[in-house]
Amino acid sequence: MAKLHLGDDEVELEHGSPIKDACEEAGVPFACTEGICGTCVIEVKEGGENLSEMTQEELDFLGETSEERLACQCIIKHGSVKIDY
Ligand code: FES
Repeated sequence: MAKLHLGDDEVELEHGSPIKDACEEAGVPFACTEGICGTCVIEVKEGGENLSEMTQEELDFLGETSEERLACQCIIKHGSVKIDY
């Protein structure tokens, strides 16, 4: 299982799972869920390499950044990832 740390919360997810539902339960707002609106921006504090590569939608919205991601686009591959929102 992979671990997602959301602020003070910690959630275990299957390898290869989208992080959207866990983020939504923790209070991250979502709207389009397609990587277009930018509502679900999160800040990756640690373990960004354990998330899926940035999607074209993220690159279009965020540009080249190592800290911000769109939660609706991220899949946790393995290991541990710490985010803030
Ligand atoms: S919910 Fe719109 S970009 Fe993620």
